[in-house]
Amino acid sequence: MVASCNVEFDWAKEIKEFDETKAGVKGLVDAGVKEIPRLFVHPQEVLERHPTAKDVAVELPVIDLSGAERGGARRREVVEAISKAAREWGFFSIVKHGIPLETMDAMLECIKIFHELPKEEKIPLYTTERNKPVKWNSNLPAQQNDPACWRDVLNIVYTDDHLEAEEIPSACRKELEEYVKYMIQVRELMAELISEALGLPADYLSKMECMKSQSLSCLYYPACPEPHKTLGAPKHSDTTFLTLLIQDRLGGLQMLRHNQWLDVPPVRGALIANFGDLMQILSNDEFISVEHRVLSQSVGPRISVATFSTPSIRAAGKPFGPIKELLSQDKPAVYRDFMFEDYFQYYKTKGARVESAFDYYRINK
Ligand code: OGA
Ligand code: NI
Repeated sequence: MVASCNVEFDWAKEIKEFDETKAGVKGLVDAGVKEIPRLFVHPQEVLERHPTAKDVAVELPVIDLSGAERGGARRREVVEAISKAAREWGFFSIVKHGIPLETMDAMLECIKIFHELPKEEKIPLYTTERNKPVKWNSNLPAQQNDPACWRDVLNIVYTDDHLEAEEIPSACRKELEEYVKYMIQVRELMAELISEALGLPADYLSKMECMKSQSLSCLYYPACPEPHKTLGAPKHSDTTFLTLLIQDRLGGLQMLRHNQWLDVPPVRGALIANFGDLMQILSNDEFISVEHRVLSQSVGPRISVATFSTPSIRAAGKPFGPIKELLSQDKPAVYRDFMFEDYFQYYKTKGARVESAFDYYRINK
């Protein structure tokens, strides 16, 4: 949860003024601000790095997907590695995933180009409305007095793997379509491997269609004149099933492990995978959704693209909860069933206070 600041400033006024610029954080940087607006200042206690974690980089488990296809020589080994990483880390790095390096580089580059377009070209996409398949904004906090983060975001939602090409900004259309094609392949393979890692038939998750849509956050973290006062992304866990992230070489992502913030350093060509809250719920707490955040830096811009897997329209209409095949007398359901709509509504009302819904749905609190 993001603690709110002691406010001696007019939060509502500052946010309104900032929103009305429709220029995002990039607009502030272009205007040459030397001090960040009060709206972006986070309370000291959330900014501190854990002292012992200073400069400690994580050695994330590395999952090599070569030979992991059905009938592949390394399938069992890879399933076991994912099972272990999912239970002990919640985060891991994926290599040999089949996405060409040029496709990843082109994706990051076109997102930079999009965010650096003249403001006038981006304004038609500027909205803080939720249900638009393509939108650009600055991740403004919804809750009174919550601080804003030092980043802008282009959100692209593929529902049931489909988005009309014309909806995608032309600055990144070709690259995005190419990238998503590969993302779908990786996600389908991961859905099989995750199913098996849970001890289920390979096609279990794919039949459930719980990962069949995807939402891309194409993030732009500008260089910050006062990086120690703000954050690129607050401490949060992801809400969905599986997140697949690419990032450029600047770093800044940290994960919370054993109560310490650890750097997740960029590795060229690798995907960073982590599980979201829905995966933890689906697995009845066997797989973990781990909190993470992004530091602001004096260098930038940093570009990253997070692809979240979300349910298909069909799956979204059905009740969801821990998978019944995983439950027994010894392992009763930890969460009650719910509708996705209710779940996403919960997060909406939380705004930037990104506490997970675990307690809300937990049985026997
Ligand atoms: C997110 C996220 C990390 C990053 O968008 O949920 O955690 O490195 N992004 O941008
Ligand atoms: Ni995240």
